[in-house]
Amino acid sequence: MKSSHPEVASSVEVKSAEDHPPRRSFLVKAAALLVAGVTATVPLFIAFGNVLSPLFRRSKTAAPTEETSYFVGKTGGLIPGGPPQILQVIGTKKDAWTTYPGIALGSVLVRLDDEGQIVCLNARCTHLGCTVGYQSTENRLYCPCHAASFSLNGERFNQTPPRNLDRLDAEIRNGDEIWVRFQNFRSGTEEQIPV
Ligand code: FES
Repeated sequence: MKSSHPEVASSVEVKSAEDHPPRRSFLVKAAALLVAGVTATVPLFIAFGNVLSPLFRRSKTAAPTEETSYFVGKTGGLIPGGPPQILQVIGTKKDAWTTYPGIALGSVLVRLDDEGQIVCLNARCTHLGCTVGYQSTENRLYCPCHAASFSLNGERFNQTPPRNLDRLDAEIRNGDEIWVRFQNFRSGTEEQIPV
């Protein structure tokens, strides 16, 4: 019931006014802390994300493009139907943060078939990744690591490797320059998976 006495009413109002400021003050401080916390941590999250983002970027596994063509050597030593030459592919490698120019990306076996068409194979063994070479005594391609062997076109002769050697697109430019669209593939799988 409402008091009709002016002194009682005044005393109630004074007590209420003393109670509320601390609560309001606490809420204001909490809100300020929250805003300050968000303001401080958002840039940290952005910076952290920028640093780590290369890790989550998809590696370059798409089909080779024009930019992944590499000059590997000249046709001088090749004769139609003759043995392959092993040539190194020098290019630029990128990991998450760093670019390494002028390093060996791999090797290719290049030859001319009987019609003079260029045949190019990635020399990386499809078994476990050793380098395959030409074995002249058998006129075949041979991997010394676990004795996988292949025809000059890359077909496997035994079941040690899970698939044939990986064939790569190559072309001759400017008369005698061999250019290869180089790509490495995962070893040890039946499926050809770019890496
Ligand atoms: S790595 Fe070539 S046969 Fe094993």
